[in-house]
Amino acid sequence: MDSFLIRGGSRLKGKVEISGSKNSALPILAATLMAEGKSVIQGVPRLSDIDSMIKLIGELGCQVVRHEPTSGGRGMGPVLDGPLEIEVLDERQCEARYEIVKTMRASICVLGPILAKRGKAVVSIPGGCAIGDRPVDLHVRGLEKLGATFRTENGNIVGQVHGRLKGCRMYLGGAQGPTVLGTINVMCAATLAEGDTTIVGAACEPEVSDCAELLIKMGARIKGYGTPEIRVEGVEKLAGAEHRVIPDRIECGTFIIAAAITNGELELKNCNMDHLLAGTDRLEEVGVRLERDHGTVFVSSSRRITPVEMTTQPYPGFPTDLQAQLMALLCLSDGISVVTERIFPDRFLHVGELNRMGARIRKEGPTAIIQGVKELQGANVMASDLRASAALVLAGMVAKGTTRLDRVYHIGRGYEKF
Ligand code: EPZ
Repeated sequence: MDSFLIRGGSRLKGKVEISGSKNSALPILAATLMAEGKSVIQGVPRLSDIDSMIKLIGELGCQVVRHEPTSGGRGMGPVLDGPLEIEVLDERQCEARYEIVKTMRASICVLGPILAKRGKAVVSIPGGCAIGDRPVDLHVRGLEKLGATFRTENGNIVGQVHGRLKGCRMYLGGAQGPTVLGTINVMCAATLAEGDTTIVGAACEPEVSDCAELLIKMGARIKGYGTPEIRVEGVEKLAGAEHRVIPDRIECGTFIIAAAITNGELELKNCNMDHLLAGTDRLEEVGVRLERDHGTVFVSSSRRITPVEMTTQPYPGFPTDLQAQLMALLCLSDGISVVTERIFPDRFLHVGELNRMGARIRKEGPTAIIQGVKELQGANVMASDLRASAALVLAGMVAKGTTRLDRVYHIGRGYEKF
C-alpha cells in the first residue's frame, strides 16, 4: 500500500490495546543470539522492522517460530501477537548483510551479542537516515574498551575478539548525550566478558531496562540499569529464558495525541504511564485530560489547545520520537509554541509537509516556532520517516478535506494496524 487517503473531521472514539514496544523488542531479539537453549518472547509486535530482525537472526543461525496468540487483545478480540520462540541452532554465521541493514538501522544491535558470543562480527555500516546524522562510533568505542578490535572493510564494520572480552570502567556518553542502542550493545557484550564492567553515561530508557531484565533471566548479572551507571559482572554463559516485552510508550503517546487533535475520547489499554511521564506532563499542559486506572488510560481533551515550549531530551525527558506528533497538535494551538530538538537536531522533515497543510512553522536551527492556526487543510503530502508519517496522519484526521499521504510503508515499520 503506497498511500493513505484521510478524510478529516471525525472525532476519534473507542478502545485500543497498545502493542509491545518495537524499540524494546528489536534489541531483545538480538540479545537472544547469546542464549544456549530456547528463548520465548511475548508481546513482540507484528511490524516490518520486527520481520527484518527475525530475518537477520535467522541468517545468524536462529530458528524463529511465531506461535498463535492465546486470548484477549486489540478491540478485545484475540491477541494479535503470539509468542516468539527463538533457538540458536548454528553459530557459524557472523555477518549482518547490507540488504537487511539498509532496511533497518537497528540491525546494529547484533554487533555486541555476536562479538561476545562468537568472537567475530561483520555488520554493514548503517547508511544515512531521514532524521539526521546517526553514527555508530559510540557502539564501537564501547566494544573496543571491552577489548574488541575493529576495522572497516567494503562498507562493513569488522569486529574481532581474541579470547574473551574483558570488563572495564568506561564512559559512553556522546555529543547529544547517551546512546540507547549503544548502551544496550555494550551491556549485552559485557554480560559474557571476563570480570566487571561499569558503563558511565549509560542511557536510562525503559527499553534498556527491559533488555537488562531479559538478560538477568538468561543468567546475567546486571545492576544499575535505568540509571546513568550500569554495572555488569561477566558470566561464562547465558541460557534461553521467557520474557514479555514492555508496552510501546511511543505508540501510546501517539494515540493520546490522536485523541487530543480530533477532540476525541479514547480508552488505551496495556499502557505503562510511568514510561511516559515527561510526555504526559507536557500534554496535560497543552490541555489533554488523562485519567489513569492501572494499565488503562482514558484520554479526552478540551477544545482549546494551549501553546507550549518543549525540548526533546534523553529519558526521562520528552522523547524525540513524539516530537513530530506533538508538533502536529501544536499547529492548532491558540498561540505560539517553540519546539527544540536536542537528540536529532535535523529531525524536522515533517515541517515542510505540515506547512503544505496550512500550518505556520518556521525552523531556526534545531528549533521550530509554531504559530497556531484555526484549521489545517487536506493536501498531498509525503512521509519521510516513521514518526513524521504518524504526525501527518494525525494532521490529516483534523484537516478540512482530504489528505493523501504517500510512502506510508514507513508507518508499517513502527505501528501495528495503525
Ligand atoms: C533509539 O535509536 C531509537 N531506535 C530511536 O527511535 C530513538 O529516536 C533514539 O533511540 C533516541 O531515543 C530504536 O530503539 C530502534 P541513540 P538509537 O543512539 O539508539 C548520537 C523510532 O522512531 N549517537 O540514542 O540509534 C545520535 O546521532 C526511532 O522508533 C552518536 O553520536 O539512538 C543521536 O544524536 C528513531 N554516536 C544521539 O546520539 C553513536 O554511536 C542519540 O542516539 C550513537 C548515537
